[in-house]
Amino acid sequence: MSNIKVENLTKKFEAATAVDGISFSVGPGEVFGFLGPNGAGKSTTINILCTLLSATSGRAEVAGFDCASSPDEVRQAIGIIFQDPTLDNGLTAYENLLFHAYLYDLDRVTARRRIAEVLALVDLTARKDDLVRKFSGGMKRRLEIARGLLHYPKVLFMDEPTLGLDPQSRNMIWEFIRTLKADTGITIFMTTHYLEEAESCDRVAIIDLGKVIAIGSPAELKAGLRGDTIRLVAKDNDALAAEVRERFGMDAKVSEGAVTLTVERGEEFLPALIKTIRAEITSVNLTKPSLNDVFLALTGKSIRDEEADPNNVMRAMARSSKKRGH
Ligand SMILES: Nc1ncnc2c1ncn2[C@@H]1O[C@H](COP(=O)(O)OP(=O)(O)O)[C@@H](O)[C@H]1O
Ligand SMILES: [Mg+2]
Repeated sequence: MSNIKVENLTKKFEAATAVDGISFSVGPGEVFGFLGPNGAGKSTTINILCTLLSATSGRAEVAGFDCASSPDEVRQAIGIIFQDPTLDNGLTAYENLLFHAYLYDLDRVTARRRIAEVLALVDLTARKDDLVRKFSGGMKRRLEIARGLLHYPKVLFMDEPTLGLDPQSRNMIWEFIRTLKADTGITIFMTTHYLEEAESCDRVAIIDLGKVIAIGSPAELKAGLRGDTIRLVAKDNDALAAEVRERFGMDAKVSEGAVTLTVERGEEFLPALIKTIRAEITSVNLTKPSLNDVFLALTGKSIRDEEADPNNVMRAMARSSKKRGH
């Protein structure tokens, strides 16, 4: 039994294949994260699942209903929190919720009860009569989560729910997510490009250039790396990498101004490495596996740097258009 089932889903826009034949399923009560850099295809996937976009090919099913043939049933079963805020700033928190309740045909009594419930859940009861215009980013996000829960959805979709929020608001939202999961058993599907956020999910699909390149619990994904990451910087990184390959028979990669290699028990290997190597090393760094390392191992680039460096986005676009034969 799964609450979300996606088979070979593809979405082509004129200029790009945003989603490229992905498949996965999400069970009841799971917090499932879609992790990937900007432009990976996360929002496109979520929009198809929410019936806001139609797929080019493949199938998507939510709460047992087909997204293409039964969009109304799907919409009744889901709550959505979009990447960009969609609250009415000119209304109070309460009015925003009431408007949503009308859209979902809740009667007056039910609406009043549920609005009180969700406001309490996100800790905004005291601010319910304030104009949303006066809310901080974190408060607006909490109100949007409250709104998404008003009609008791089976599946809650959140597109980058904590994007741009300060760490405190981010933590608070994660507390709500955990409470929700424990109290209601709701399925949560969220996209993120924050690694810390993905670490908190039950399972994660890593998406890049429209493809799911790995899927599993954070622990499973990291276990696949079998080891620690050693980052070395030398005057001549290419020469260092060549030396490591030659002397240790290891797969040393040069990227982002450093040589990286994966070893088991890095702390034992590192002293031997440094003693043996002739190249002049200027910096040494040992880290236990993170989801970023999983991404790095699979794609040769880092989620974080992709975000910071627009050239990487350009390169990614060039790669994907080359692949399509342009
Ligand atoms: N409506 C659209 N028309 C054309 N291209 C789009 C549209 N929406 C998204 N894309 C493209 O599809 C790719 C994936 O975008 P998106 O799903 O928004 O990625 P993410 O949410 O992971 O950042 C990008 O290359 C983006 O430019
Ligand atoms: Mg997006």
